[in-house]
Amino acid sequence: MLFFLLLTIIICVLVMFYIKWVKVRSYWAERGVPFDPPNPFLGSLTFLMRKNPSLWMRDIYERHRSRYVGVWLFWRPALVVNTPELARNILVRDSGNFRNKFMTASTSDPIGSLNLLLTKDPAWTGIRKRVSLAFTSSKLKSVQAVAAAKSLDLVTRIHEEGVAEISLRTMFSDYTTDVFSAASLELDSNTTLTGEGAVRDITKEIMEFSLPRGLAWCAIFFWPDMAELFRVNFLPKKSTDFLRRILRAKFKAKSVELNKDPKTVLEILMQMMRKSQDQEKAYSEDCIMAQAAALLVGGYETTSSALTYITYLLAHSPRQQEKLYQELLVAEEKHGHHNMEGVIADCQYIDCVIKEALRMFPPMAWLDRVALHDYKVDDSLTIEAGTPVYVNGVGMQVDPEFYPDPYTFDPERFTAESIPYTYMPFGDGPRICIGKRYAMITLKNAIAAIILNFEVLPCPNSPKPAEAEIQKKGLFLMPGEDLKVKFISRK
Ligand code: HEM
Repeated sequence: MLFFLLLTIIICVLVMFYIKWVKVRSYWAERGVPFDPPNPFLGSLTFLMRKNPSLWMRDIYERHRSRYVGVWLFWRPALVVNTPELARNILVRDSGNFRNKFMTASTSDPIGSLNLLLTKDPAWTGIRKRVSLAFTSSKLKSVQAVAAAKSLDLVTRIHEEGVAEISLRTMFSDYTTDVFSAASLELDSNTTLTGEGAVRDITKEIMEFSLPRGLAWCAIFFWPDMAELFRVNFLPKKSTDFLRRILRAKFKAKSVELNKDPKTVLEILMQMMRKSQDQEKAYSEDCIMAQAAALLVGGYETTSSALTYITYLLAHSPRQQEKLYQELLVAEEKHGHHNMEGVIADCQYIDCVIKEALRMFPPMAWLDRVALHDYKVDDSLTIEAGTPVYVNGVGMQVDPEFYPDPYTFDPERFTAESIPYTYMPFGDGPRICIGKRYAMITLKNAIAAIILNFEVLPCPNSPKPAEAEIQKKGLFLMPGEDLKVKFISRK
């Protein structure tokens, strides 16, 4: 009797699942939206841990050639949009309905759920307004000074390591962590020279791939309910504790006036903290830590990956490298080698080189949003509230209609304006990357210092840039192999 009861329950549950699955599977077909048939367990995410999501996005774009494509995040329908017009509508025109990201951290993890990258409105608006104060033109002057000094360390390190093949990503992660430590957290370090430092211990741990961390990131990006259920953390616990200790020590050692214009990220975080103590406002210590974590995670690896690709592309493109060198030389003669700010400002081509590298290899290759209310995408399609929407930046950035011969490194194409909303390596609209100008300063100083001091050559038998492996297990578009070049001193 018990056996039959159990069997009936199991059959009923299976039938219910099947009915639900049939509904899920027909979701996009019923709405006339192109799609690839979903997998019953993973939906469209069958590539996870086997292929980088950016390549999946690019593949969707190239195969469907359609305004939008329906996908499933496990069983949840989501929409990938593929045109500049829809990108503009979602990111800018109708941004009120797309203020939040779909990716979400567990509420049990304040460092994840309160940080600028992941937090939702209305908390996001207040935090963004405060943290933006660290990224105004006057504040970025101090970032310029730090980046110029650390770029010289980069040159010293390359000289010390000799003409041997140098692994780019580790060296550039040392440099970008160093710039962030010194310029934002006011921590003295010489990580660019030594590869060691307090904050570098954190970024090394973040960079280490492990299966649990990989699954944690997949849950945050694509299955927030699971992130909540398994109380997934944004950062490994050791890194969070370490960052907390560093910041507490800095807060103790430094005093900051509440109404004085803050100069660095650290001062802004301290003011947020003091304001909340003085006025009982809602910024807890966790919220402050969360912003430091967001800026560190959002900035150091994206910038180091970009530097890796820029250097690698230049090593494989001698004509473009020579042109950059000549322009930098002229600018250096005009401003003197101590005035890197002037040198960089006078070299238009460095801008084109960086833009072109970010077109081909955007570290965050798609832009994630979620619809707050039902939304009319066009006359044929209305999506429901809660539907995740992905703007397919990486797809448009290699569309030959917008960028002829898209897999060729051709910085000259950026001497003219690109078609609006076909180029978005830093995103767009209210949630555009807060560190865009900070990143450009960090990138330009390093590239200018390297190219003025070294000729960069490809290593024998190294893959062409467009054929180099892209990491399979991570979610960002970053090298999947150790990219190396040879540096030959120009002096
Ligand atoms: C080459 C370097 C970088 C690239 C390509 C990059 C790209 C991006 C992209 C695509 C977004 C999402 C924008 C959107 O959804 O519209 C973003 C957001 C963000 N980035 Fe960056 N980023 C870089 C460097 C930095 C740096 C240096 C920092 C900090 C110092 C930073 C901090 C952030 C933060 C906090 C957000 C979340 C902003 C928000 O949601 O309000 N990024 N970045």
